[in-house]
Amino acid sequence: MFRAAALLAFSFLAVSYGQQVGTLTAETHPTLSIQQCTGAGSCQTQSRAVVLDSNWRWLHTTSGSTNCYTGNEWDASLCPDPATCASNCALDGADYSGTYGITTSGNALTLKFVTNGPYSTNIGSRVYLMESESAYQMFNLKNQEFTFDIDMSQLPCGLNGALYFSQMEADGGMSKFSTNAAGAKYGTGYCDSQCPHDIKFINGEANVAGWEPSPNDQNAGKGQYGSCCAEMDIWEANSMAAAFTPHPCTVKEPTRCEGNDCGDDDNRYGGVCDKDGCDFNSFRMGDQTFLGPGKTVDTNSKFTVVTQFVTADNSTSGALTEIRRLYVQNGQVIQNSKVNIPGMDASLDSITEDFCTSQKTVFGDTNSFQDKGGLAAMGDAFQAGMVLVMSIWDDHEAKMLWLDSNYPLDKDASEPGVARGTCATTSGEPTDVESQSPNAQVTFSNIKFGPIGSTF
Ligand SMILES: *[C@@H]1O[C@H](CO)[C@@H](O)[C@H](O)[C@H]1NC(C)=O
Repeated sequence: MFRAAALLAFSFLAVSYGQQVGTLTAETHPTLSIQQCTGAGSCQTQSRAVVLDSNWRWLHTTSGSTNCYTGNEWDASLCPDPATCASNCALDGADYSGTYGITTSGNALTLKFVTNGPYSTNIGSRVYLMESESAYQMFNLKNQEFTFDIDMSQLPCGLNGALYFSQMEADGGMSKFSTNAAGAKYGTGYCDSQCPHDIKFINGEANVAGWEPSPNDQNAGKGQYGSCCAEMDIWEANSMAAAFTPHPCTVKEPTRCEGNDCGDDDNRYGGVCDKDGCDFNSFRMGDQTFLGPGKTVDTNSKFTVVTQFVTADNSTSGALTEIRRLYVQNGQVIQNSKVNIPGMDASLDSITEDFCTSQKTVFGDTNSFQDKGGLAAMGDAFQAGMVLVMSIWDDHEAKMLWLDSNYPLDKDASEPGVARGTCATTSGEPTDVESQSPNAQVTFSNIKFGPIGSTF
């Protein structure tokens, strides 16, 4: 009885003072304009902004400037447990360009890879599109298309300039978890289909229990909990390779996972999300001349990426049945590459249930995409609302070889599905890309969405 009463009193305190906001740097979201289209040539500009994810932010005592988290470790006295840490520590505002290398101009967002700021060396970043000061913009792309321009001419092997959607809460989880006092304004509430364990706060609590600093990333670690939700990768790419990939989950909202549900390591297919997804990477699907420097879609210069979400009844509430891709470069519309894999239908050029099933069978991959609900479940996530994410990152787990080289390395590169891009199997080591390509960057611009056929 005594113990229960003590816990109750404690949680009352935590409710009063949780995951606070620091005021040492004012939080000013960089503005970014986008366009909503209603028909061909008919688009309205919307004045929007981006916000930096909370994981990148300085986390310090509410009363002063002592670090709650340094490098890849929590301060043991400020963060002895999840609730105390959330009440002791505040997320501060961000110097977007100076510390994080994030700049906007009109309708363009540029993310720099390595930024040597006044207090730190920052590696990569992740931002979300905001509808207001305190809420993310929510997208339902069923029976719609989403279009943007990409410049990844300065994005080499081992890097990923990503544009995607995650099924986060519009307010970053603030209303569901009263101990989260920061919310979307400070970039809280991230989740994705990998159920990442490196998220510092989940459900208004610090992920400090069981935290293990990464053995090869001086800025990251993993806590006991992961943060799972459906993810639609519109664009995961560098100058040498690109993929678009739906990743459904069996959970229908952002969900904190623990144990088997996270699908970690040997239990990859036993969690709540489809970690592999059903990917369309033109190189992997057999057209090695389609995208890259000097290729049909020439990554040496800017081009437009169009993604169409077709539903069974051509309505925004119908079941998602197909994800189509087009490119536009130098005024030319370029149809997506066709599949060129023995055993697969050579007319396939989009993501459908048939494409996914055939690809998984021919490549010998586990069909976790279907197991987690396939395209219909991906569509359900859009109907619930998804948040636009843009990021630049390097890969401490798998050197990005799954995107731009041969993967997995224990299979012969001549086996179907293993070769994904022309990058060397020795490329993508984070220490190498960080030292050799600190000035790498990606620019996303000219974002448009609307009915199919309205944006390009
Ligand atoms: C949906 O639109 C496509 C293309 O315009 C058309 O071919 C198809 O018949 C439509 N389907 C339904 C169910 O209306």
